[in-house]
Amino acid sequence: MGDVTASELTLEEKASLTSGADFWHLKGVERLGIAQIMVTDGPHGLRKQGGDTDHLGLAGSVPATCFPPAVALGSSWDAALAERVGIALGVESAIEDVAVILGPGINIKRSPLCGRNFEYFSEDPIVSGVMGTGLVLGIQSQGVGASLKHFAANQQETDRLRSSSDVDPRALREIYLRGFERVVRDAQPWTVMCSYNRINGVWASEDPWLLTQVLRGEWGFEGLVVSDWGAVHDRLLGLPAGLDLEMPASGGRTDAQLVAAVQDGTLDEGALDVAADRVLDLIRKAQARPAASGPLDVDAHHALAREAAGRGIVLLRNQGELLPLSPDQRIAVIGEFARTPRYQGAGSSQINPTRLENALDAIRAVAGADVPFAPGFSLDAATEPGASSSADAAALRAEAVALAAEVDVAVIFAGVPAEEESEGFDRQHMNLPTAQLELIEDVLAVNSNTVVVLSNGGAVVMPFAGTVPAILEGWLLGQAGGTATADVLFGAVNPSGKLTETIPLRLEDNSAFGTYPGELGHVRYGEGVLVGYRWYDVKKLHVAFPFGHGLSYTTFAYGDAAAAVAASGDVVVTVPVTNTGRVSGREVVQVYTSFEGASVVHRAPRELKGFAVVALEPGETAEVEVVLRRAELAYWDVRIDDWVLEGGTYGIQVGASSRDIRATTSIALDGDAVRIPISLDSSIEELLADPKAGPGLRAAIDERFGRTEADGMLRLVGNFPVGRLDGFPLPHDEMVEFVERAQNGGGR
Ligand code: BGC
Repeated sequence: MGDVTASELTLEEKASLTSGADFWHLKGVERLGIAQIMVTDGPHGLRKQGGDTDHLGLAGSVPATCFPPAVALGSSWDAALAERVGIALGVESAIEDVAVILGPGINIKRSPLCGRNFEYFSEDPIVSGVMGTGLVLGIQSQGVGASLKHFAANQQETDRLRSSSDVDPRALREIYLRGFERVVRDAQPWTVMCSYNRINGVWASEDPWLLTQVLRGEWGFEGLVVSDWGAVHDRLLGLPAGLDLEMPASGGRTDAQLVAAVQDGTLDEGALDVAADRVLDLIRKAQARPAASGPLDVDAHHALAREAAGRGIVLLRNQGELLPLSPDQRIAVIGEFARTPRYQGAGSSQINPTRLENALDAIRAVAGADVPFAPGFSLDAATEPGASSSADAAALRAEAVALAAEVDVAVIFAGVPAEEESEGFDRQHMNLPTAQLELIEDVLAVNSNTVVVLSNGGAVVMPFAGTVPAILEGWLLGQAGGTATADVLFGAVNPSGKLTETIPLRLEDNSAFGTYPGELGHVRYGEGVLVGYRWYDVKKLHVAFPFGHGLSYTTFAYGDAAAAVAASGDVVVTVPVTNTGRVSGREVVQVYTSFEGASVVHRAPRELKGFAVVALEPGETAEVEVVLRRAELAYWDVRIDDWVLEGGTYGIQVGASSRDIRATTSIALDGDAVRIPISLDSSIEELLADPKAGPGLRAAIDERFGRTEADGMLRLVGNFPVGRLDGFPLPHDEMVEFVERAQNGGGR
């Protein structure tokens, strides 16, 4: 296709390029040798459909490695691991001649109920951004494009194609867009996928502010914006707003609309050229990929899936060092999920795995084929919380309890039934099925050495968190999750995963409770920036397990932390960390900041700003360095619509979790100069704070009232707009002069 540009295309050809040929292909232009390229889901494996096509994961797809979904991969907090998974995804895409894999999804987990939380990384934007960057860099290193999705503020499945996410600008910038900004700046994804929803009433698919001003103008995005499948609401508004490609095919209907609009002058042909050129550019990039040769190294990718799964498991609790297990112990495996694993979520991300391992086989491979098993519950049973259990459930439970009573350790595999978690709808509650909770309770009553292993895409409440001695949060671990679980249970892998989302005591404690999933087409993000741990911390709420929590089979000691400002303005935090236990292990060192002193904006008690993963042998110490980007220390100032780094002292908290702070220090930072435009609507206090007008105004007020009287009076009325009280504190024309002096340095 060479260097073909839109200028060589007919109007019809240009319009045709900007929508899909079918479900998964873009259109080409035959006469110019421009081929059709294929895009395919994503995100944690390749879902390439050959026969029937759909975007809901209904029809089959070619076998591909099912890596751990984002919920588990994210728990590794390891961008390098994400990059390796990304490389593998790129390789599989290349072998299947897929130009773009539709992921990663990096939306913030606002509520544990979002049906798609398993596809997302975190309630925190830095974790989401760092992990998303790793995946994109990996995928694109193979000459395959990524599609960063779902842009933006898409936190729910309920009415997802219409609902308006009503978010204040600060929360939007600091929480919901920050991760996207990081990935765009650091990894330049080939494509960004706009979401279905509206943001503050404007469709994401036709929002010039979102798709052009912010994404391209501010962040420097150079790729192509594709619609989520069916997200186009009005193509004639979308295209000039920055939506380059409509997917899937529109049957030519919307292409014809574009042609007609150019012809009747309502659409600038230049806008169509820009979009068509971006499509051409994408096709060119895809074709530059060196031909990949198969077959896929299934074993190697499976091994990587196993490694990643092991890194995603979070050891929540380990009283009395019940874990790791020894193969010599008499172990009973209980729970249907041990035999019938839940390893991914439903919907468009559903992969047809190359192989599938279950934990029961994996445990038997280590501890002997005679390790007994009891299903404990049925996956077909009613799942409503509080539903009284049936006779069948009681029988299954009794069998399991009898087995548990005879062994040294009972390992229960519990989890959320598959039908409760999916793209397309949200969860109704955070509870495990009653039958499972009763099983856990009864097993624990006969065997105090009980381990619970959880399989769930979204967080669940754990009424047993204080009684069951050992709990592994397995999330959804992909096709090798069964073996990876055995690796962790027996200590072949020392767990190092940390929670990327808080596990609350109750759903009602979550910041979105009461506003999620909205009503009558709107969901109000009323908690503003106080999402996830920021909320639990500011409200001083007890939680089951805090953000960042995760135990290890070894222990780590933190030395004194130090912080310094680098030439770039970034803050570099260093802290020595020592493995003080008996086995090698990995620690995720987390750095949170707080603003000490009165801030001009409400701030959470601590905010994650950086982290690092360090692997240490027993006795080994490493000097861990974590960079906090100056730009990410800034808050979004709605007065000037810009980022502001507030000058002052920042507390730095280095922790093993958000509530296990091991070292603290602080750093004084020079702030950004903020010039708040002064007008007659500015308050007297604001005018007094202005460097040009303030000192003179203060002198004049003191002269008129005397210093002490002026102080008392200003406390009372300093918040009055300057032009509101005629003659007060100075005659109106004098006040106007000070305002002008502030505005342009004029006046006296
Ligand atoms: C999902 C996207 C997915 C697309 C194509 C949509 O319904 O929201 O994440 O990439 O379908 O399957």
